Amino acid sequence: MKNIPLMLEADLNAKVVLIRFDHNIVKKGKIKDPMRIDATIPTILHVFKKGGLPILMTHVGRPKDKATNTINISDNDSVQAIVNYLNQKLQLKGCAVDLKAADEYGITDLSPLAKAVDCLKAGKCDYIYLPNTRWFKGEEAKDENADIFAKDLASYADVYINDAFGSWQPHASTFNVAKYLPAYAGLLMEKEITNLDKVFSPQQPLVAVVAGSKFDTKIGPLSALIKDAETLVLGGVIYNAYLAAKYNLNITGIGEDDIAAAQKFMDDSKDHLSKILELPYVVVSQSIKERKEGSWEIKHISELKEMDKSKPMGFILDAAPESFCDEAVVKRFSEAGSFFVNAVMGYSALFPEGSMAMYSLIDQNKNAAKLFGGGDTIQDFKTYLPGIFALAQNDEKYYFFTGGGAVLTSIESGSAQGMKPVQALIK
Ligand code: 3PG
Ligand code: MG
Repeated sequence: MKNIPLMLEADLNAKVVLIRFDHNIVKKGKIKDPMRIDATIPTILHVFKKGGLPILMTHVGRPKDKATNTINISDNDSVQAIVNYLNQKLQLKGCAVDLKAADEYGITDLSPLAKAVDCLKAGKCDYIYLPNTRWFKGEEAKDENADIFAKDLASYADVYINDAFGSWQPHASTFNVAKYLPAYAGLLMEKEITNLDKVFSPQQPLVAVVAGSKFDTKIGPLSALIKDAETLVLGGVIYNAYLAAKYNLNITGIGEDDIAAAQKFMDDSKDHLSKILELPYVVVSQSIKERKEGSWEIKHISELKEMDKSKPMGFILDAAPESFCDEAVVKRFSEAGSFFVNAVMGYSALFPEGSMAMYSLIDQNKNAAKLFGGGDTIQDFKTYLPGIFALAQNDEKYYFFTGGGAVLTSIESGSAQGMKPVQALIK
């Protein structure tokens, strides 16, 4: 944790402590899975223990229309469900703040916050939870409005803590505000960065597994990972695009842009391509809407190469579970010293089996460090292998990052300090 000020070192007694979390787990006004809130509870309790007065905040969803800069303030993206959850879970009383937007460009007037802070200081409530940070005009602003908002917000607090590991984008509440207050990393941020070091200095051999729905967003992290890892496994559209580019396959749904991105990655990483472990069996389906008898089959890569290239072969919707019984695959997975997994292997609404088989195989390697990142990856693990997932929570070999984009951004830049909000804490 070189040079990053930690909240454990901060004097919080009687201080108003502004804390940014990544509690971005509300969908249509309801909490989908409280994991990201639960991960921040030690931070909240520590602030209470040290006599601090917390103002909490998070973004929820993407309420800003980037084309018009208007912000859609709706109950769907409200923090209310988070406040209810915290009040219930920790038996707390949260103060509401009545902040309203004067127009469709978001909230600018923070003055009602003064009254809420008075209530907090008078002990009439335990904490304040600000409205969704993305409802404020300055939050995602690219101009002076970001600093105007950050400075105004900072004026209500004495200390700033960033515990929002998953919120890697530099916005007013994650980045600019650190200029105006003594700033520290929270306990979760500290834990995540410590675990990131296990990806940067891995127990070798490192097996990295990355999947995704767009290749172009993953070129950077993949090019970095393929250097550090001994084995790289691809899944999802990324694997489709790689197969299409390498073997000139005509795979339904894989466009020119994905193939071009795959080709660019292969050109950039040409000295390391032998590290890619090709999963030999895939699910070829004629439909992406339904899974029915006769509409899909399991094919070996060698069969795909023989297929008629003049017409689309169908969608590749999963790495078939058979891949994870293949001798070469089993050998690499069982000899791994660590795993980094940011990957749902298939189109899991229809074909979750590839991911299930892979997570199970990884679990069988008891000695390896197992680092999982990405909301969908963790959600699928939890949904489809609830037993293994529950045991993994108390297994020190496992770590589940609360952010996916944050981990990949760090990997691409070579360190956690590649994330702008982390840099802001150091300055
Ligand atoms: C997430 O859920 O991925 C994080 O909260 C970041 O959200 P964002 O991609 O909208 O910035
Ligand atoms: Mg995301």
